[in-house]
Amino acid sequence: MASSSIVLLFLFIATLIATSTANFNDFTITWGDGRGKVLSNGDDLTLSLDKASGSGFQSDNEYLFGTIDMQLKLVPGNSAGTVTAYYLSSTGNTHDEIDFEFLGNVSGQPYTLHTNVFAQGKGNREKQFHLWFDPTKDFHTYSILWNPQRIVFSVDGIPIREHKNMESKGIPFPKNQPMRIYSSLWNADDWATQGGRVKTDWAQAPFTASYRNFNADACVWTSGSSSCGSVSFPASGSDWLTQELDSASLERMKWVQKNYMVYNYCADVQRFPQGLPTECTTSS
Ligand SMILES: *[C@@H]1O[C@H](CO)[C@@H](O)[C@H](O)[C@H]1NC(C)=O
Repeated sequence: MASSSIVLLFLFIATLIATSTANFNDFTITWGDGRGKVLSNGDDLTLSLDKASGSGFQSDNEYLFGTIDMQLKLVPGNSAGTVTAYYLSSTGNTHDEIDFEFLGNVSGQPYTLHTNVFAQGKGNREKQFHLWFDPTKDFHTYSILWNPQRIVFSVDGIPIREHKNMESKGIPFPKNQPMRIYSSLWNADDWATQGGRVKTDWAQAPFTASYRNFNADACVWTSGSSSCGSVSFPASGSDWLTQELDSASLERMKWVQKNYMVYNYCADVQRFPQGLPTECTTSS
């Protein structure tokens, strides 16, 4: 490669490696007619839901790989029927998506944290958890590590789920489509709480979820640039690009999955009578 193109390549890499972004000024409230609010000069954000509407926001930036932290405090009290979705998604028919969804519950009963990964438009990879704390009392940190080898979902720094790149086994992995961060608070009492048997108590409305301390160390996609994953990165400042779970982290993940996982598609043999999905039965 000619030296001038090496210089160009490095300039290009420099524009892809994002600075950390740490407030909500780069987000847009996309719906809800005033029910979503950016507060305190961009440090805080709230979404609310009442009988007429929920609300939602999205990031202005699109990202291709990153480690993204968000602190959330969920709808307190009787939150049955409310769903707070917090996810990354690309657009189009064959979109990729990395999901956290918090399904509310009646007072005193646990939220369900639902996770899923879509690649090339196909999801069906649900794993659900209860939490080891009350997610409505305080802010807790929900993180997504997304690099070319793996996606890791973490709660307060504890990994709860790892989804590995198994393209070598013919399974698509999200790595070519940039994604935005989205969140919404909406009503799903037709299915969310105990299969739709428990309805939203609108006397408790408006329901509010709060967000703060957003941080993204991520590759920001700028139009015209090609895949972040196919170029080699300078190591400094982007360790997350090659990060994997060390043995202590794997132990903690095992602890969560043993004690708090309430649904695992990889264990649902009734759902997959033809056999479990390949990624469930192969170790990479
Ligand atoms: C609500 O609480 C019930 C009873 O503890 C539990 O079975 C269920 O998983 C909880 N979550 C949702 C979303 O219903």
